[in-house]
This record gives sequence, structure tokens and C-alpha cells, in this order.
Amino acid sequence: MLNTPGEVRDFYRKTYAEHGPSPRGMAWGDTKTHYKRVMRIHHLLVSLDVPMNRILDVGCGVGLVHNLWGLAYKERTYHGVDLVPEFIEEARAGISKDPKAIVVCEDFMDWVNIDPFSVALGIGTFAWQTSDAVRSMLYKMWGMVGASGALAVTLIPDNPLPMNEVRRLKGTLDAKEMLLYNGYSDRLDEHIVILVKKDAETLAAEAMRLEEMKDATYDVIREQYEHAHS
Ligand SMILES: C[S@@+](CC[C@H](N)C(=O)[O-])C[C@H]1O[C@@H](n2cnc3c(N)ncnc32)[C@H](O)[C@@H]1O
Repeated sequence: MLNTPGEVRDFYRKTYAEHGPSPRGMAWGDTKTHYKRVMRIHHLLVSLDVPMNRILDVGCGVGLVHNLWGLAYKERTYHGVDLVPEFIEEARAGISKDPKAIVVCEDFMDWVNIDPFSVALGIGTFAWQTSDAVRSMLYKMWGMVGASGALAVTLIPDNPLPMNEVRRLKGTLDAKEMLLYNGYSDRLDEHIVILVKKDAETLAAEAMRLEEMKDATYDVIREQYEHAHS
């Protein structure tokens, strides 16, 4: 179990020192399966009609998403955040010719960005972390996803979040759609979880309804107060 950002950083520094800038260096089993995983997430997002113009990669590692999704050749911005300086140095070299891409070495929980993203990724980011840390990251990522955008993460069943909590995420986060996809060639137990946000019109209508409800509640409280003091 990796209990703190410092422990996460040290763990991946060791895997990097042993295996270099490769999927194994980021603690994945093998390169071929990892490339499939990253491409599968892309296909799933496209098939769900998620806009792909602003991509946030939380725990970006060496920036494979930028490379495998061919982002340098597309009109898409890419923001990567990772705790490990060696990964970020490698990722920086990979994106150096793309003016629409940026990577930073920081704990995602301390990272600030105000513009919403169309996609927030967490590919392997939660591995071996505590359930509280994972929940905090998930909720922060969801908050950074704009209308009609999506959150896409990988999770091992019941580790660290119980599967019933994962299945309830659509309701907890009030998502429009949720896809729980399981199975790849050699990691049959790993899930890809995609949550799609409601569109802007629906979100605005819901916010307005909430405001009206609040106003109505204030009216009732005010009437009760005036009645009690008259
Ligand atoms: C298994 S690696 C996956 C790397 C990359 N997403 C990939 O699949 O190629 C998980 C990465 O998440 C990063 N990570 C975990 N928690 C983080 C946090 N709170 N802030 C930034 N990076 C984090 C780790 O440093 C590590 O590089």
C-alpha cells in the first residue's frame, strides 16, 4: 500500500531505475498490453461521442497518451501531471515539438487549473493507493470535467474501492452515463470506468431548478420567522 504522495513517488522512481522509460518502468506488466489498454480507452471515448479537444492526464507517467493518441498532429490540448521528476523529464522530451501540450511535476491534489477539460484520464494512477486518496482524486478530476466531457480511469476490482461503490459512481457523481468495461488479454480483472457528464443545457436547467428550490425554502423559513415574531 502506498500511503503518501512521497511513497508513490519513491515506488515509481524504483521501477523507473530498474526498467527505464517503458510501461514496465511505470510498473505495468508488459508493453503490448499497455498500448492496447491506452488505445482501447481512446476507442471507448470516441464511441461514446466524448469531445476530445482538451485532455487532462492525471498520473501521466512518461506521457504515452500524448504519443499513442497522436496528439501532436491533432487540434487537441494535452495537460499531464505526475509526481515523478524522471517521468516528467521523459514526457517533456516527448511533447517538446507540440505547443499545445504541457506536463508538470506536481501532486495532482495540489495542482490548480480553472478551465474545464473534455477528458480527464487516470490510467493506472490509483494503483496501490488508499481508498481515501483515490476518492479525493476521483472527485477532483470529476470537478475538472466540463459539460458532455468524461472521466476515464482504470481500477482493479475491490482495490482500493469496493465494486459496489464503483457501480454507484454514476448516481454519486450524477453522471449522464457510465461504462464499466472489463477485460484485456492478460489482465482480465482490470476495469476501465468511464463516466460522462451531462450536457450544458441539462446542467444549467438543473442549477436553475436548485436555485428556485432554495428561494422557495428561504420564503418558507422567512414566513415561519415572521409568523413566530409577529
Ligand atoms: C501506473 S503509472 C501509469 C502512468 C501512465 N498513466 C500510463 O499509464 O502510462 C501511475 C502514475 O500515477 C502517478 N500518480 C499517482 N498519484 C499521483 C498524484 N497524486 N499526483 C500526480 N501523479 C500521481 C504516479 O507517479 C505514476 O507515474
